[in-house]
Amino acid sequence: MSELKVANVAFAYEKQKNIIEDISIELHDNEIVCLLGTSGGGKTTLFNVIAGLLVPDQGGVFLNGEDISGKPGHISYMLQKDLLLPYKTIEDNVALPLFIKGERKKEARIKVGAFFEQFGLEGTQKKYPHQLSGGMRQRAALLRTYMFSKDVALLDEPFSALDTLTKSEMHKWYLDVMDEIRLSTLFITHDIDEAFKLGSRILIMKEGCIWQEGTARELTEAPRDVFVRKLLNR
Ligand SMILES: Nc1ncnc2c1ncn2[C@@H]1O[C@H](COP(=O)(O)OP(=O)(O)O)[C@@H](O)[C@H]1O
Ligand SMILES: [Mg+2]
Repeated sequence: MSELKVANVAFAYEKQKNIIEDISIELHDNEIVCLLGTSGGGKTTLFNVIAGLLVPDQGGVFLNGEDISGKPGHISYMLQKDLLLPYKTIEDNVALPLFIKGERKKEARIKVGAFFEQFGLEGTQKKYPHQLSGGMRQRAALLRTYMFSKDVALLDEPFSALDTLTKSEMHKWYLDVMDEIRLSTLFITHDIDEAFKLGSRILIMKEGCIWQEGTARELTEAPRDVFVRKLLNR
């Protein structure tokens, strides 16, 4: 069970105007919500606030009722360019969050090993990142993110570097595995099809606010304005 609540968050980088004006989001258990917006609109900044890496100027971030504003370590976060370390094996890359938490190497490797099959990584434990396909590398990065915390994951354009076919396979896989592991995900993308495919709800960001929120169908049928219509390109 996990509930993430972002309540009336505002944020500005020092002495600049607000990047985030007033954002509230609720992410329920086992739900994928996609965050869509133009480049430079503040999506990554918002993720940094939710992950506790930046402190909001106003409002707060709550996980299962606990105030985690400005406190990293509670939520898994996969950065836009979350690369695997080239000189470490896949299992050690994946086990990194456990090593950092001080778990013994042997036990950490056994723990992560239990998820390799589910993440489509069987047999890759002792391999190095360059020996894996792009899709597999992303699954390994996702597993590493999941090992950090098993409740809520923030994914910042995780599949954007993959080719169309691999991306489409990853979508199918992600929906399946999400259901099995009951992870809640907030997912940034600039790919409308991806948002429509993965998101049970889609949040459109503009001017530091959630400009419109809805299912793919609601947004397509009743876009709030020209901005949304153009963004959806439909
Ligand atoms: N560390 C920073 N210091 C100052 N401004 C920043 C910093 N990081 C990002 N910005 C600015 O904040 C705005 C939002 O950026 P970002 O959150 O990366 O948007 P998005 O992820 O939607 O593309 C941009 O104008 C960007 O230049
Ligand atoms: Mg970004």
